[in-house]
Amino acid sequence: MLALSGVHAHYGSAHVLHGVDLEVQSGQIACLVGRNGAGKSTTLKAIMGIVPLSDGSVTFRGERIDGRATHVIAARGLAWVPEDRRVFGSLSVAENIRVAAQATRRSNAGHARLALEFFPALLERSRHPAAHLSGGQQQMLAIARALASNPDLIMLDEPTEGLAPSMVNSIRAGILESRARGVSVLLVEQNFRLALSVGDVFFVLSRGTVVFRGTRDELQAAPEIISEHLGIGRAKELSQWHE
Ligand SMILES: Nc1ncnc2c1ncn2[C@@H]1O[C@H](COP(=O)(O)OP(=O)(O)O)[C@@H](O)[C@H]1O
Ligand SMILES: [Mg+2]
Repeated sequence: MLALSGVHAHYGSAHVLHGVDLEVQSGQIACLVGRNGAGKSTTLKAIMGIVPLSDGSVTFRGERIDGRATHVIAARGLAWVPEDRRVFGSLSVAENIRVAAQATRRSNAGHARLALEFFPALLERSRHPAAHLSGGQQQMLAIARALASNPDLIMLDEPTEGLAPSMVNSIRAGILESRARGVSVLLVEQNFRLALSVGDVFFVLSRGTVVFRGTRDELQAAPEIISEHLGIGRAKELSQWHE
């Protein structure tokens, strides 16, 4: 469904992505993990056309999307929830979702309704200004807004960062529910345990290159790769991980 091939990207003279290869199949939750500064967020921005590619290609649903404008890419069915969440604080929860559903012809009032009902905590607060929500609820709203555009694939950039455990569980349930509803997911996640518990396939990014790709079993069979590229703590989590 989504494929990156040999993607390079720069910020000015800084070469940040060094030939990223990555695929997300339809119906999958793909997890992109890596240390701070590895280039995870830049990869998502390159997919969305926010950071230009210096080389390589991005294909979505069989068509090249690199070089396209961000709104064109979104209209093809790719939704992105950035790290900073960016909800409209003065608008209510329901209005935030409605605006997102109206932004593209892919979606209608029915999609807005489904998105509002996606997280029970949002439905209860549908008339509250988004600025009054907790950090976790704002993250739910950011995800619901993305889903309101009726995407085929949703990309989440560290959705559980800084959230309390109960909120992490709600976001986790939302990620699984997205897949259950037929929306593929590309998840960037620092919470390695969470990634392990939801991911169908894993990509480890290190200094702008994918150094590992595989299933959880394959990841567990390669602890040295994890300790080298994610740290010893993560390797330990992996060895102790069980369903
Ligand atoms: N807007 C920017 N301008 C210049 N350098 C940037 C910018 N954003 C990120 N970088 C640099 O690019 C590298 C990759 O960053 P990023 O993709 O945000 O990593 P990650 O999301 O994996 O933590 C880092 O070295 C970071 O400092
Ligand atoms: Mg990042």
